[in-house]
Amino acid sequence: MTQRVLTTRPDLPGGGLDRLAAQSELVRWDGDGKPEPAELHALAAGASGILCLGNDRVDAALLDAAGPSLKVVGLASMGFDGVDREAAAERGVVVTHTPGVLAETTADLTFSLILMARRRLGAARDSLAAGRWDLFRMDDYLGLDIHGATLGLVGFGQIGRAVARRAQGFGMRVLHHDPFAPDDTQDPPSKAVDLPTLLAEADVVSLHVPLTPGTRHLIGAAELAAMKSTATLVSTSRGGVIDENALLHAVREGGIHSAGLDVYEREPMGTDLSPLVGEPRVATLPHIGSATEATRAAMVDLAVDNILEVLEGRPATTPLPG
Ligand code: DGY
Repeated sequence: MTQRVLTTRPDLPGGGLDRLAAQSELVRWDGDGKPEPAELHALAAGASGILCLGNDRVDAALLDAAGPSLKVVGLASMGFDGVDREAAAERGVVVTHTPGVLAETTADLTFSLILMARRRLGAARDSLAAGRWDLFRMDDYLGLDIHGATLGLVGFGQIGRAVARRAQGFGMRVLHHDPFAPDDTQDPPSKAVDLPTLLAEADVVSLHVPLTPGTRHLIGAAELAAMKSTATLVSTSRGGVIDENALLHAVREGGIHSAGLDVYEREPMGTDLSPLVGEPRVATLPHIGSATEATRAAMVDLAVDNILEVLEGRPATTPLPG
């Protein structure tokens, strides 16, 4: 019998949804934006699978709304901080995500943020666009070099390693801190250090850890104070890993040189902008780390593969890590 699968968005990049529609009874939430929980719960009843985005809440209420038929929730995202893992485990529901396919694209964006923040690209661009480029001055928009600097990666999984590979091209020395990757590596070259050493020695600190209770506010006032006053903090992981009030204070008071952020404690922002947006030494983007056509299509494809695998009684390719 064909199994029912709910997708929380009517349309997604690539051909993944068409594949899912060919192999299941696909129910699409078909509104604009993002469904309210009540709408989702009504549609979920009797589903065997649910395809979600990273910003959907996968909680006991949704799982119970689907009921005992539910076998799998496939996230088209790497991050899984919106998932109540305990509730899923209690109900025997497999939850999958999409590591790997977005690592290179997110690493590209990480480097964009490093360049934007250290070379003050946003301020320079705004000045040009506002018609303030009236003279070449030796001391305008002076930034800090990236080549030859020390990069400190907090988290050395697929994305962290992809950033480390790019750093080789910039002649950077790379340090990493990751309890799951405790050793030095040659491919790519990186020295394993503890967090205090990384914060003290890095010119650029880049965060690549998932948001979990253990990583919430991993970078707060004390960690920012431990960084060099010439350092840049970059994050393409999750906003909650940084205490944003402490970061704002640190950049305003000159505790660190700059920051580059793609992720925030509160997302999305609409017109109610975080004070970090528009702060002269903070480069900000609206959570676009994996936003290329090919990568978003690959994320949907992998989510669909995972869902079909579980529905067919096979192990999922990329379940959430244990
Ligand atoms: C991810 O995959 O986690 C990205 O942040 C998009 O949700």
